[in-house]
Amino acid sequence: MSDEAGSAESKKVQKLVLMGTAVATVLAIAGTLFYVSPQWYQNYAPTQPIPFSHKRHAGDFKIPCLYCHASAERAAHAEVPGLETCMNCHSVVKTDSPHIQKVKEHFDAKKPMEWVKVHVLPDFVRFNHKRHISAGVACQTCHGPVETMEKVYQWAGLNMGWCMDCHRNDNYVTDRRKEWAKKEIEMGGVAGASALPRMGGAEAAPLWYKALANKHPHNADVSCTTCHY
Ligand code: HEC
Ligand code: HEC
Ligand code: HEC
Ligand code: HEC
Ligand code: HEC
Repeated sequence: MSDEAGSAESKKVQKLVLMGTAVATVLAIAGTLFYVSPQWYQNYAPTQPIPFSHKRHAGDFKIPCLYCHASAERAAHAEVPGLETCMNCHSVVKTDSPHIQKVKEHFDAKKPMEWVKVHVLPDFVRFNHKRHISAGVACQTCHGPVETMEKVYQWAGLNMGWCMDCHRNDNYVTDRRKEWAKKEIEMGGVAGASALPRMGGAEAAPLWYKALANKHPHNADVSCTTCHY
């Protein structure tokens, strides 16, 4: 092989490597967007460290969701309960079960149980439980019939279109908020801040306040920054 042929050959290799890199980058980006979207995890039901049954606890025994997930009502995140909540009952209930013994071991050692997260929105999405619970959206609207699930799974797609479909509707707009919106529209939307105390305080301020210009009250704001940082 002559030198010339060799360098032509290596140029060809370089070109191939470059092309390969470009293709790999595009695939990586597409793959990330694909992988990141929670809709591909619909029906996802990971195996948990112990088989905890929502059907048993929330269904058969009718323990309220908020007894274990109290933070859903108070914070952006709905935390999984600490083991002291389990021990309220399991210090006496079913102590002969190996699963309950595992709960007790972790509790005594102050070691949290390594529950595998079921629902995961990508980092660039902002979600807030408290706002939905206080607007009257039921857990089941987004999580499905959890009280019938032996093993909890991702029931909804959680994709952007799913969020938007509800935010654009008006089925969670209470009469008081509709009244408020009507007043706002009558006043041309200018006296909003001063009308707040009379209409029930800042708590009653609907997020669609900003969207009143189109005179159509909807469940929640649909502007990009509502859900994206
Ligand atoms: C006795 C306590 C208890 C009660 C009552 C309970 N849960 Fe749970 N929940 C848990 C525990 C523990 C986990 C974590 C283990 C698992 O995923 O199965 C969990 C997990 C979940 C998850 C999945 C969280 C994730 O990782 O994304 C959802 C959603 C959920 N619960 C909703 C509900 C709803 C809705 C109700 C009422 C119908 C309810 N839970 C009642 C204890 C409880
Ligand atoms: C309000 C009471 C109560 C709370 C709180 C509670 N449980 Fe239970 N749990 C029960 C009852 C009652 C049973 C059914 C016992 C039986 O089958 O005899 C049960 C059954 C179980 C079982 C099945 C045991 C077996 O081997 O059959 C597991 C596992 C379990 N619970 C885990 C948990 C965990 C984890 C928590 C905390 C996140 C928790 N429980 C919180 C009342 C409770
Ligand atoms: C408007 C829809 C919606 C409602 C209503 C809702 N959730 Fe969720 N829930 C979600 C989404 C979306 C996630 C994933 C959040 C994330 O990854 O940041 C989630 C996650 C969770 C988790 C895992 C912990 C976390 O915050 O990521 C638990 C537990 C949970 N929800 C319980 C509940 C309970 C209990 C209720 C009712 C009191 C409830 N949810 C109501 C949509 C909802
Ligand atoms: C079933 C109806 C429904 C679904 C589904 C839903 N939302 Fe909402 N969302 C609402 C309502 C109602 C409010 C409360 C509006 C208010 O308080 O004025 C709200 C409020 C919010 C807020 C609060 C805005 C703020 O400024 O605090 C955020 C953020 C939000 N939603 C994000 C999401 C995301 C992300 C999803 C999808 C993963 C989602 N929502 C799915 C009905 C829904
Ligand atoms: C009500 C909440 C909500 C609003 C409002 C919203 N998004 Fe999203 N968006 C989401 C959620 C949840 C995801 C992640 C789920 C998914 O990938 O489908 C997402 C994903 C995305 C992605 C990632 C690509 C994709 O589809 O996976 C882009 C880009 C995006 N949003 C842009 C926007 C823009 C631009 C706006 C304003 C016009 C907007 N979003 C408004 C909830 C929202």
